[in-house]
Amino acid sequence: MILVTGGAGFIGGNFVLDWLAQSNEPVINLDKLTYAGNLDTLKSLDGDARHIFVCGDICDRALLIKLLAEYTPRAVINFAAESHVDRSIHGPGDFIQTNVLGTFNLLEAARAYWVKLPANEKAAFRFLHVSTDEVYGTLEEQDPPFAETKAYEPNSPYSASKAASDHLVRAWYQTYGLPVLTTNCSNNYGPYHFPEKLIPLVILKALDGKPLPIYGDGQQVRDWLYVNDHCRAIRCVLEAGKLGETYNIGGHNEIANLDVVKKICELLDALRPRKDGEPYSKQISFVQDRPGHDRRYAIDARKLEQELGWTPAETFETGIQKTVAWYLSNQEWVQNVTSGAYREWMNKQYGA
Ligand code: NAD
Ligand code: DAU
Repeated sequence: MILVTGGAGFIGGNFVLDWLAQSNEPVINLDKLTYAGNLDTLKSLDGDARHIFVCGDICDRALLIKLLAEYTPRAVINFAAESHVDRSIHGPGDFIQTNVLGTFNLLEAARAYWVKLPANEKAAFRFLHVSTDEVYGTLEEQDPPFAETKAYEPNSPYSASKAASDHLVRAWYQTYGLPVLTTNCSNNYGPYHFPEKLIPLVILKALDGKPLPIYGDGQQVRDWLYVNDHCRAIRCVLEAGKLGETYNIGGHNEIANLDVVKKICELLDALRPRKDGEPYSKQISFVQDRPGHDRRYAIDARKLEQELGWTPAETFETGIQKTVAWYLSNQEWVQNVTSGAYREWMNKQYGA
């Protein structure tokens, strides 16, 4: 059995679905169900005894200790986090609470559990911490991609909180010998992505006939990875990663935001043309830039590729087609997650 935290969110949800599609090893899924956690994502697992969902907070140490004692998992995979940079700018407190203190709590609960395991289970136990490339800071156009050796230079409250959590994970290995692994991944996209993030936001706003907000000049570059490729990479690291090491995960898909948005518009023009026959790109609107906006991210994933044999299966071309098609045929999921709280955020960030 494995314990997954944040498994009702975008990547955690995809990971749980993917895990149970590949194996019969049960998952305990601990998620606080914040605005970003949606049980609708896991609907296909209703009645499946391999999935045990627990609504709870990684900051609740007593609950963590109870779950670990009751289910005796062989691994903890920590996805739980506050994950949206713009929200971290409006209100950093929740990011410090969950990403820093929550990770600290989880490490302490895992350590207390791990030290008492019998020798063979102790040796097999893993604590895998899911992190981000944003901890490395920003790149200039000519800079080489981020390698695992790049110094941390986080620029947003979100990335600073993730950097802090990565440091805690490292220290729990160096000091206590807790068998940890850390992954630092680039921008994910795909099904069940909460529509506050660029790709799903643009798909929804385009279909609603609303302006498509591009921050600044739209020339910021992200390295996009289809979410299933990320899930597969995490499985690889869990099974064969070297203890105490960090692994970068990326898609070799460096694309400027404006080009991402134009690509989505083109796909929608073909799949769901506007009633007036005009292209969706007419809705593109340049808006005020994000403060502290990182200009470019790019990942050097050679360590993962060479040591563990992982490579991404999707190109941006294939992944974005699947993603747009998924949003068009899953409007019910979209309706359910874009509740009142979502509308409040949209008004706060983009104006009524
Ligand atoms: P998300 O915001 O979609 O999901 C986060 C999940 O964590 C939600 O289900 C939420 O309810 C849960 N959660 C939040 N606070 C919690 C708490 N205190 N206790 C328990 N559960 C809590 O995030 P995501 O995009 O799926 O990201 C998952 C992880 O991957 C995060 O750690 C993030 O930093 C990392 N990551 C994300 C990306 C990306 O592109 N989305 C890329 C690299 C790394
Ligand atoms: O790099 C990994 C990170 O990717 C993860 O750690 C984060 O959890 C995840 O949210 C993502 O962070 P970004 O800030 O890169 O993602 P976001 O979708 O918010 O923005 C992508 C780019 O698009 C970024 O340069 C900002 C820009 N953008 C975003 C929004 C929401 C816009 O131009 N307009 C928008 O309305």
